[in-house]
Amino acid sequence: MSETRDVLVVSPARPHQMEKLAQGYNLHRYDKSDNRDALLAEVADKIRLVMTTAGVGMPTDLLGRLPNLEVITSFGVGYDSIDIPACTARGVKVTNTPDVLNDDVADTAIMLMLSTLRRLVVGDRWARSGNWSKNGAMPLTTTLHSKKVGIVGLGRIGKAIASRAEPFGVELGYFGRSRQNDISYQYFDDLIALASWADVLVVACPGGNATRDLINIDVLKALGATGYIVNIARGSVIDEPALITALQDGVVGGAGLDVFHNEPHMNPAFAALDNVVIYPHHASGTVETRDAMGQLVVDNLTAFFAGQPLITPVN
Ligand code: 8YV
Repeated sequence: MSETRDVLVVSPARPHQMEKLAQGYNLHRYDKSDNRDALLAEVADKIRLVMTTAGVGMPTDLLGRLPNLEVITSFGVGYDSIDIPACTARGVKVTNTPDVLNDDVADTAIMLMLSTLRRLVVGDRWARSGNWSKNGAMPLTTTLHSKKVGIVGLGRIGKAIASRAEPFGVELGYFGRSRQNDISYQYFDDLIALASWADVLVVACPGGNATRDLINIDVLKALGATGYIVNIARGSVIDEPALITALQDGVVGGAGLDVFHNEPHMNPAFAALDNVVIYPHHASGTVETRDAMGQLVVDNLTAFFAGQPLITPVN
């Protein structure tokens, strides 16, 4: 088969990057198509590369409809929305965008930690609503200083969160598959033990089946009424109905959440809770980081079509 420069766009990179790519590649906009079957009937055989994003992923049925697919480039570090074993079995390589988002995601974890413990949103509303002038000071909050912060998943993002938390004078512990010998933070080989120890539990592990509902009601009970949970990983890692009940009943003190089940259709119960700070899956959502993520997608795509090794392969 002669080589083509055809790309199926299931979910795009940044607009300016797509405009530039369109100058050198045939971009078939599956994302914008109102007749996807007709589009596939026309181009499926030519497609060697699919562009997608972590949020949209790769529908498994689509994988089966692209006989000459070789690479999927995904915009995002997490690849739980792509069936990697199925891709590997088909000989399809997947790339993601690691590292370039670590700083913004770790900053977001700290932002959620502080804003949850210090009740930033409640305070903002207190002032805006006129409560401050009518009723005086808002209720006291709790300090981050001297708290025990337990990180679930001490990978690259988990480490970036830990190094930012350190200057706040916290104690650090972590749970993961194994002890990391070059790390001085306290290691817990048991998640319940970490949750019992911690005042703030930060979820920073990958999503997917291996971690589904890892944070269950027992973990939440172990964290306790004066404990807080921060999640910048994936909604799937937390048993969300259990978390909502725990937040409503004071089983845990509060939560700072960037990720949810069934995004973007967040369970409305969260919106009614004063002890929750919500961020709409936007930890990497700065112009600078999204540009860098998109550039890594473009660089992987360019490398593939130039016959060079992929830059950030997953499988
Ligand atoms: C993505 C993310 O930006 O990187 C990830 O895995 O979850 C986010 O940073 C977003 O999901 C893009 O689709």
